[in-house]
Amino acid sequence: MKLLEPFPINGMTLANRIVLTAMVTRLSGEDGRVNDAIRQRYARHAMGEPGLIVVEATAVHRAKSGPLLRLSEDRFVAGHRALVDAARAAGPSKLALQIIHFLKIARNGWRQTVDQLTPAEIRTVVDDYAAAAARCREAGYDAVELHMAHAYTLSSFLSRLNRRRDAYGGRSLEARLRLPSEVLLAVRRAVGDDFPVGLRFDGEECIKGGYGLNDSRLIALRLAQLGVDYLSLSAGGKFEDAIAVEGEPLYPYTGYSGDRTMPGAQYPDATNAYLAADIRAYLRQQGLATPVIAAGKIGRPELAEGILQRGEADLIGMARPLLADPDLPRKLRLGQPERIVGCVYGNVCKALDERFREVRCVLWPKGARHAPVADPGDRLAPAWPSGGRLRASVRPNGGVALSWEAAEDDVAVYGYTIERALNAGPFVPLTSVTTRHHVDGLALAGNRYRYRIRAYDLGGRRSPASTEAAIVVPAEFLTPAEAERFGPALRIESDSPPGSAR
Ligand SMILES: Cc1cc2nc3c(=O)[nH]c(=O)nc-3n(C[C@H](O)[C@H](O)[C@H](O)COP(=O)(O)O)c2cc1C
Ligand code: SF4
Repeated sequence: MKLLEPFPINGMTLANRIVLTAMVTRLSGEDGRVNDAIRQRYARHAMGEPGLIVVEATAVHRAKSGPLLRLSEDRFVAGHRALVDAARAAGPSKLALQIIHFLKIARNGWRQTVDQLTPAEIRTVVDDYAAAAARCREAGYDAVELHMAHAYTLSSFLSRLNRRRDAYGGRSLEARLRLPSEVLLAVRRAVGDDFPVGLRFDGEECIKGGYGLNDSRLIALRLAQLGVDYLSLSAGGKFEDAIAVEGEPLYPYTGYSGDRTMPGAQYPDATNAYLAADIRAYLRQQGLATPVIAAGKIGRPELAEGILQRGEADLIGMARPLLADPDLPRKLRLGQPERIVGCVYGNVCKALDERFREVRCVLWPKGARHAPVADPGDRLAPAWPSGGRLRASVRPNGGVALSWEAAEDDVAVYGYTIERALNAGPFVPLTSVTTRHHVDGLALAGNRYRYRIRAYDLGGRRSPASTEAAIVVPAEFLTPAEAERFGPALRIESDSPPGSAR
């Protein structure tokens, strides 16, 4: 499997092609220091063996911004060294640190924009990045990643909405690229040629008037020509379409562009992969071999493998899939893909980030601060005490409500995966929950659905399937004209009372 093959980046060899893209944890205090919880979080990720772990966005400057890591002064280096040591002791992953500069933002809705920066302040952005990158190397990281995506300073310079009218913006892409290029070159000088410098930027801004692939191809070209060691593609995450909440600082992931950064369940798999595919093809056409990382709902191994096989990316970024199950890469290596606990893309983690609360996954056991580790003594898969009784019923306003009996395990049942088959189609995983009930809100009248449940334990071992519940969502949700077209297919398929199935 290509996904599990090693990959070299400027002297650093990743054991596989899975990259944990940066994910703010909100585990740091306002002091910006690495603490026990952060060390534990990254050690837990390293146990799962992704090729590269990109540690969360860490500020290069001194501005206050709630719980966010910093590397703005030498005094923060020791904490990062301890983080690196803890992760290295836990697993084989290489470690990069994402470094970020952001502008000021106030609770009353005011925010600083790039056109307000003086030449001296622009100089400081360059110096701060270079100094933080040097500290990153000193702390023992294997690489540094420059954050040029989303709502932050360098992304706002790259933006088509950059309103400066000097050498740093506005009318030409050349000018919009000037500061990002200066930062990249200053960082290169600070860390040397033999230290991998990656960079993350938006393949598309996803806002009205923002840039799309026509610009981002050229942005990638310039950054690759300047010698960046990899390009990690994200999308959106802008302030321009963020939804304002009175008294709260603007959160750049609340509008459509934010949806595109962390696509929820309503978006298709690999939502943004076309950006990486296009940009990679463009770079190759130009004779540039810079590795490209695709990300955004690429949590299923076969999906990731397809993207690599078709040459649409060199590496696969996963954030939420590795929050839900850090052991995904290790389970693949061990040939246990059926044990992976899949992210359900409900974005509870994103909501926690927005409120500056510790980022956890809704699928973890209640109260857990990190993903659970399977008990080595747990050798049995969960089982159904009464064969796995499953009930399904049609809800008054549409959708199918499911409930099922509790499974048992020698250590602990972790959750339940719901599988669904539509009409003559095969069973496919629908979602996972930690409760014993779920509503399938996407079930449509006139179609036959079959459901079954599998319980899983902390190691991801699955129980046999529960009993099947088959249900045809009845005609009462259709107009008479629609019902006529469906005709005799509309009947309840079970011995249960109308509207329900067992
Ligand atoms: C809670 C949370 C925090 C994030 N923090 C960052 C960050 O610090 N830097 C960054 O570039 N992307 C950040 N992201 C975006 C992810 O790296 C990733 O691009 C996005 O979630 C889509 O990938 P996924 O579908 O694999 O989660 C964050 C995402 C989440 C859910
Ligand atoms: S909280 Fe939801 S979206 Fe976030 S990682 Fe867990 S399952 Fe995925």
